[in-house]
Amino acid sequence: MKPARPAASHRNPATARIPRVPSANEFARRVAVVTGGSEGLGADLVRALVALGADVFFCASTRAKGQALATDLGRRAHFIQTDLSDPAAAQLFVEQAAGFRGRIDFLVNNAAIDPRIEFARATVEDFDRLIAVNLRPVFVVAQAALPALLAGTGRAIVNLITTNYMVGDTPFTLYNASKSGILGFTRSLARELGPRGIRVNAVSPGWIMTERQLREHVTARDRVALLAAQSLKFPLTEEHVTPLTLFLLSRSAGGIAGQNIVVDGGRVMQ
Ligand SMILES: NC(=O)c1ccc[n+]([C@@H]2O[C@H](COP(=O)([O-])OP(=O)(O)OC[C@H]3O[C@@H](n4cnc5c(N)ncnc54)[C@H](OP(=O)(O)O)[C@@H]3O)[C@@H](O)[C@H]2O)c1
Repeated sequence: MKPARPAASHRNPATARIPRVPSANEFARRVAVVTGGSEGLGADLVRALVALGADVFFCASTRAKGQALATDLGRRAHFIQTDLSDPAAAQLFVEQAAGFRGRIDFLVNNAAIDPRIEFARATVEDFDRLIAVNLRPVFVVAQAALPALLAGTGRAIVNLITTNYMVGDTPFTLYNASKSGILGFTRSLARELGPRGIRVNAVSPGWIMTERQLREHVTARDRVALLAAQSLKFPLTEEHVTPLTLFLLSRSAGGIAGQNIVVDGGRVMQ
């Protein structure tokens, strides 16, 4: 016999309010911060959030692409040129976003660089640069945003990592040191902020065919090897990653915290 469905009065009231599919409305008039949203995955996310009615604050260390995207998207896209490797500049970026409506609903730590550096040739300066751009700002930005996140209603953080450290791709020793640090950060922060109603999760993309990757890195041989390794036999683009990030930000992911979810066409299986 099937167990009886609990009476409405016995259901968890928090669960009852969870939309079974993410609702477009829940992003409207929210304030989102996306680091490094001038191109690639970040730009696709900025576009999606603005289309859903959010005000999006995003940054990049150079001006041209971010400014052009903001102009293209209109008044809800707020580009602030910021070099996140400077902690004071990163904090100022967050303060400007928080000052807009006195709250931040969503934070996505996306900015990163991925130089290919052979281990034997890597310098201490290379190592410090990777940490300063890829890892330290995740801490600095999240901490600066905390009071505004607590004042917001979205209350979700997503950090972009990578599957690269899971498979030990080369020559990415320094990159993977910086990115895998975000995993430990994400898990502990999820435990620390969960009791305060903030969910922290991570998204780990596989190799995504962004404009920059295609321009600077992907060879015909890489393409063949990548598709051979993936379960899904087509190249992934930004559009495959953005829906997962939006889902993790949404109230539909209200029961998910401290997770690192892979979107890589089925190469890594955790
Ligand atoms: N594409 C992939 O295959 C892939 C795979 C796995 C993980 N990921 C992760 O996904 C995220 C996005 O990657 P992507 O491929 O979209 O990168 P991307 O196309 O190179 O874009 C990176 C963004 O970060 C910004 N940025 C870089 N350094 C910065 C700094 N010091 N201060 C402020 N902004 C900075 C860049 O702008 P400026 O250059 O103007 O500073 C740009 O807007 C990264 O965390 C990356 O590690 C990507």
